[in-house]
Amino acid sequence: MKLSYHGHSVVKIETGDFTILIDPFISGNGQTDLQVGDVSPTHIVLTHGHNDHVGDTIQLAKEHGALVIATFELADYLETQGAKTHGMGIGGARKFDFGHVKFTQAFHSSSYTDDQGTVHYTGMPAGVVLTIEETTIYHAGDTGLFSDMKLIGEQGIDVAFLPIGDNFTMGPRDAARAVEFIEPRIVVPMHYNTFPPIEQDPEHFKSLVHSADVQILKAGEEVQN
Ligand code: NI
Ligand code: MN
Repeated sequence: MKLSYHGHSVVKIETGDFTILIDPFISGNGQTDLQVGDVSPTHIVLTHGHNDHVGDTIQLAKEHGALVIATFELADYLETQGAKTHGMGIGGARKFDFGHVKFTQAFHSSSYTDDQGTVHYTGMPAGVVLTIEETTIYHAGDTGLFSDMKLIGEQGIDVAFLPIGDNFTMGPRDAARAVEFIEPRIVVPMHYNTFPPIEQDPEHFKSLVHSADVQILKAGEEVQN
């Protein structure tokens, strides 16, 4: 399995014949190394409806026939836009051909603004726990700190992608507390430096974490397992 980070909250997983993109915000993402024309996902996993997470999903799903896995209302909306989707709910898990996906809670909001500026309700925001080739990955999406992260950690997390940008999500201090709750082997900070309100120094976050291997990845770099 190849697990790589691509700026903001974009994560790519390559396993066997499958390419899974999480939150593929590529167009307008000044932090990413990806080009929309260069990626061909078989699956897209979305944490919530905000445009900096849905990103290029509709175009990618239509061009490549990728299955979009998202919370029920978001999946429903994307289905009306021509994407093939699979809707799920918080706490629900399912085995897909590439691996196992479970949706977790996140404390945030969720809506999608279309090209005409109309805002669509897209249900609950979420995090996702993916188990692929015996590696368990927690992508927290956008969230504040919550103590039930301990329950997510009890599932045994190898790699956690945690937002550290503050303002809209956890900042470095709360994200470091989250690491204590989750107890992952490896942590990758995300959702920072894309926009002025989320400017952060990931080294500051790293200095606050003592119980996990913090890997500060540049866009395009792979997690060192
Ligand atoms: Ni958001
Ligand atoms: Mn966001």
